[in-house]
Amino acid sequence: MPVSALQWQPSLGPGGEPPAEGQVLWAIWERASLISHAYLVGRGTRTERGLHREMNGRRLSALARRGVGPSPEAWCRSWALSWLARQLRCAARDKGVPTRLRLPSTTSGCSRYRDPMPASEPKVSAIDLFCGAGGLSLGLQQAGVRVAAGVDLDPACAYPFERNLRAKFIHENVANVTGRQLEAIWRSRKGYRLLAGCAPCQPFSSHRRGADTSSEQNWDLLTHFSRLVDETLPDFVTMENVTRLGKMTVFRSFVDHLRELDYAVDYGNLYGPDFGLPQERRRLVLVASKHGVIRIPVGDTSKNNYKTVQQEIGKLPVLGHGEVDPNDSLHAARRLTPINLDRMRASRPGGTWRDWPEELLAPCHRKSSGASFQAFYGRMVWDSPSPTITTQSYNFGTGRFGHPQQDRSLTLREAAMLQGFPREYEFVPAGERPSMQSVGRLIGNAVPPAFGRAVGNVIREKVRVISKELA
Ligand SMILES: C[S@@+](CC[C@H](N)C(=O)[O-])C[C@H]1O[C@@H](n2cnc3c(N)ncnc32)[C@H](O)[C@@H]1O
Repeated sequence: MPVSALQWQPSLGPGGEPPAEGQVLWAIWERASLISHAYLVGRGTRTERGLHREMNGRRLSALARRGVGPSPEAWCRSWALSWLARQLRCAARDKGVPTRLRLPSTTSGCSRYRDPMPASEPKVSAIDLFCGAGGLSLGLQQAGVRVAAGVDLDPACAYPFERNLRAKFIHENVANVTGRQLEAIWRSRKGYRLLAGCAPCQPFSSHRRGADTSSEQNWDLLTHFSRLVDETLPDFVTMENVTRLGKMTVFRSFVDHLRELDYAVDYGNLYGPDFGLPQERRRLVLVASKHGVIRIPVGDTSKNNYKTVQQEIGKLPVLGHGEVDPNDSLHAARRLTPINLDRMRASRPGGTWRDWPEELLAPCHRKSSGASFQAFYGRMVWDSPSPTITTQSYNFGTGRFGHPQQDRSLTLREAAMLQGFPREYEFVPAGERPSMQSVGRLIGNAVPPAFGRAVGNVIREKVRVISKELA
């Protein structure tokens, strides 16, 4: 099978330019995965023109030339990786970024997003319950955790999970999953085991206006998570959910049960911008270890370092409402009704409907309680993180989801990038028209990979410490 040029194009900027400062290291690593994958796929074939594109100020053509012909696959891969190792070191030195990243000796299994993991390091193998489109798994992979499988009830998750993570997707109700099934997946994998999961958060969402929804049916999914910990006793557990869950009885029972099983547990609320996420999302994160004390990740709280909306999506192609980027079906703006277009034009970034002339007000704004609808029909601002991305962030009427400059609401691609998915992350097969509702749900429900990455790093560090102690 020839290497597809398409594998390359989406990972470059709109004009084929190199990634922005600060994204350089990750971008390079993502490309390392892509290169090695491209060579794997393209073994014995001619490398295509897609590999000749400009990358990070250097021509890939040299690489492509070296890859042409009958070179053995292993040679190609190691050549590509050592070339990228040099790139990585140069980028780190040029940017003054300290890096402890090292390249793996092999890329077998070849996820597109895996982070470097020296062969000598102990492996961590994760199963992701309620895996969705793979936000949490992606972050774990970026930290070097190997994702063995994901389980979800929604068949729409199968494509993005398998395509991007290159891990097994199990289409199943977690309530029906048994410890034996999980054991069977882990059995063939060496190293430490991590059971990760983010049970559906609707029952706990703040949109439920403070009601304790503990008795709702979905609630017991967390109990099934607990049951599966009980049945498999993995080395590590991580869980993510909305912050309000922390005050609920169901969560306290979850923690108590972990402690009864001799896990060290830590949990707390993480704030997205502290972890490089260009979004004001707060989430409850729990980590638990069978190997002694473990702590939730600590982010960088200096506001000056917060990534902004502009930094994340500012270079995407300009669109009008109702228009689609011909190169990316996910970058498509919903058509606005004439009155919503007028409202959009009357909105200013960071403002509210109070900026509008009287005739544009909706009935909800005229009520005395209209103040509580402040954030509906709003525009984002360029120079700060975005508001929380929801399952409907393509819909201007449901939040501050107007584009800061263009008269339209966010596209699914923009929402995905503000959630921290790389630009080339695929949610539907090429050529398939994405459903705003279905893909919007996958994106809005995702755990931002930045949180998964931070948790993955904590677990990897813990594993390093354990190995040193054992050595
Ligand atoms: C908050 S989302 C998880 C997001 C995912 N961790 C990510 O990072 O992309 C919750 C997921 O639980 C799934 N779900 C709901 N009920 C389920 C069940 N009984 N068994 C398996 N999955 C379920 C939903 O389809 C949804 O994808």
